[in-house]
Amino acid sequence: MSADVDQAAVPEKVARATPTARTGADALGVIVIGAGDMGARHARHWHAIGADVVAVVDPDMARADAVAALVGARAHAVVGDLFDRDDVHVVSVCTPTYLHAAMTVAALDAGKHVLCEKPAALTLRDALAMQRAAERSGTQLRIGFMRRFDPAYRPLMDFTERAGRPLLAQATITAGVRPKRLMHDAMANGGPIIDMCCHVFDLWGRMLGGEPLAVSARGYTFSDDKPELAGIARRALDSALITLEYEGGSVGQIQVSWGLPSGIEPVERHTYVGPSGMVSVDWPRHITLRDADGVTRWRSRGVDPYLAEITQFRREIVEGAPREVPDIGAGIAALRVSLAVLEAIRGRRVTSPAEAVDLEVTTS
Ligand SMILES: NC(=O)c1ccc[n+]([C@@H]2O[C@H](COP(=O)([O-])OP(=O)(O)OC[C@H]3O[C@@H](n4cnc5c(N)ncnc54)[C@H](O)[C@@H]3O)[C@@H](O)[C@H]2O)c1
Repeated sequence: MSADVDQAAVPEKVARATPTARTGADALGVIVIGAGDMGARHARHWHAIGADVVAVVDPDMARADAVAALVGARAHAVVGDLFDRDDVHVVSVCTPTYLHAAMTVAALDAGKHVLCEKPAALTLRDALAMQRAAERSGTQLRIGFMRRFDPAYRPLMDFTERAGRPLLAQATITAGVRPKRLMHDAMANGGPIIDMCCHVFDLWGRMLGGEPLAVSARGYTFSDDKPELAGIARRALDSALITLEYEGGSVGQIQVSWGLPSGIEPVERHTYVGPSGMVSVDWPRHITLRDADGVTRWRSRGVDPYLAEITQFRREIVEGAPREVPDIGAGIAALRVSLAVLEAIRGRRVTSPAEAVDLEVTTS
């Protein structure tokens, strides 16, 4: 794992975060690591619910300064000894994915709670290191699968509970080449099979029945000749057709591409079909259910899933509220499916998460 945090230098349990009802939101000190899009969101939302964002860290000081200014925090280029501070209880990890494990493990070992953006990591080795650190720290580690707080999520779960698991699931996710090159870098964010599909794997784990038994896929790089991605040493696959088969007979298929022309309007549509009806989702706000009672349409506005996630995480660590923000187990489960998909594409065969091998990504 490489980051500006030196694992060997992390002190033994310096200050354990204390999740007690006495710790009001005002007293909750937060550090945000990474001041890009997600870091800015986390900082704003922590601030909005009354937490004290004490530091924003980004080697790009212009970014660190801009986000710190939004919330009255101090900007830092490196973590340094920030995790030693007693007035810090929570660390939000919003760096590119390949740095998640190093930051998370260091923060947990310093006794802090961690909300780490999804996907948990690029490799199982890193994700398991995060899990072990959470176990030994006794503090809380959550992974930012904020879609569990999307407006579409509850109606889909309700439908599944009422009507049983859908047998046929389909998701189409398409976008132009991502403006952030790191999203296409196999060594940084891992491309859509890791970065984007983890949301669907997490959802389908709950809707269709846990870990898929069989995974088959074909992968493509539509963006091979796109000049905006020139020079990335290990380009991630940007497109795939993925089929997942679950115990109980449910089958899910994902058509994903981040290889369309830059700037094209992104699309995400899901359909779920079973003997009692069909649900279609224009993710995340428009949901249509067709069943024996006719057609029911929901349209949701004004829900910010990132704010809901952070509010809920605060309730979990401060008030001991029941866990709703997914833990590292969910991050590992989704990553195992991503790795199985990549393995199936490489070997042109059917595989399963149990057989998936780790990526050859060196992060240490
Ligand atoms: N939950 C979601 O739906 C969602 C959406 C987008 C991104 N993400 C995830 O959030 C993470 C960040 O994505 P983003 O879109 O904000 O990326 P971004 O590129 O906008 O921001 C990442 C920031 O991290 C900084 N950084 C790099 N090295 C660092 C270091 N050593 N220490 C501190 N900061 C460092 C970069 O300078 C950059 O400002 C990724 O893991 C991504 O997959 C999640």
